[in-house]
Amino acid sequence: MKIEQLESDTHELVLRCSEAGSGYQSIIALHSSRLGPAVGGTRLWRYASEADALQDALRLSRGMSYKNAVAGLPLGGGKSVILANGASDRRSLFEAHARAVDSLGGRFITAEDVGTTVEDMEVMRQRTPYVAGLSTGAGDPSPYTAHGVVRALEACVQQRSGQPVLRRLQIAIQGVGAVGYQVARELRAAGADLIVCDPDHSRCDRAASELGAIVVTPDQIYDADVDVFMPCALGAVLSERTIPRLKALIVVGAANNQLATPADGEALHQKGSLYGPDYVANAGGVISGAVDILGWDLSRSKARVEAIFETMLQVLDEAYERGISSAAAADALAERRLA
Ligand code: NAI
Repeated sequence: MKIEQLESDTHELVLRCSEAGSGYQSIIALHSSRLGPAVGGTRLWRYASEADALQDALRLSRGMSYKNAVAGLPLGGGKSVILANGASDRRSLFEAHARAVDSLGGRFITAEDVGTTVEDMEVMRQRTPYVAGLSTGAGDPSPYTAHGVVRALEACVQQRSGQPVLRRLQIAIQGVGAVGYQVARELRAAGADLIVCDPDHSRCDRAASELGAIVVTPDQIYDADVDVFMPCALGAVLSERTIPRLKALIVVGAANNQLATPADGEALHQKGSLYGPDYVANAGGVISGAVDILGWDLSRSKARVEAIFETMLQVLDEAYERGISSAAAADALAERRLA
């Protein structure tokens, strides 16, 4: 195993790891351990270049520091990305990654992310204790993420109308996968009317037949005449191209990195759309990970997911009082806690 430290002005530690035999290649980025050990998922992705992988690891690990800080968790932020470069044996890849993570002696604790599974984490766990998101812990994080997103929406609705009432709201949900569908179920149970899209038709059909949702195409969703727009699929969907099309007064959802650029947070603010910052809204998943990482019992994690309502209100209040965008207010809260 070859582990090299890369220079960084912004991150505490950045490592390039590789192993000739297994074809393993990764970047591990620790942004901050100011509040506790750096925690963040392991992504397996086919990057166009190593520079792209490095960029992704730096951006995502910083995002984890901010998310954990705002959620009030005693955890720092990190992320690892494995370059999917055709190495054939998946097990060897994750055994190698476990050795790289283990070499940090607990400064970094990882879990599943895009492209990785609970099974991959179980393989890693045989070689290092610094892995969370196992089937023996809180299990699938998506129901926690979904409930936190609904609590975040309630806070946004309260900020707009004085009461956290979802009944009769028209809500567009972009993506009805693991998190989006669970969000849709909770919202329907609360009496909201749903418009959904997903390139996976079977997922749309399920939302239509079980929840009475109206189905539109992935492009039409931006023009839907709704009160709330909820990105629950991809990042960078709030951009100079899409924001002018949105009719919703509230934008909040599960997807990571929804704003294409920081200027898009400002654009939503100028437009008068209330944006519930993504990493405030979608912290339920990492909060459920505290069962594995911090030894919390499930009821404590669940109470913390409920509290996303108060955290979101705090961010929206600060934005209102200071006349800044909610995205800027969330970053300011995170930066105060990380200082
Ligand atoms: P998923 O893969 O189960 O669901 C995503 C859904 O989006 C799929 O049904 C997919 O077909 C659909 N989709 C893809 N392109 C689309 C498009 N252009 N328009 C509409 N739908 C599209 O993923 P999951 O777990 O539900 O995550 C959703 C988002 O939430 C991701 O951005 C993820 O990073 C984020 N997130 C998830 C957490 C979790 O606990 N699962 C935690 C925090 C964030």
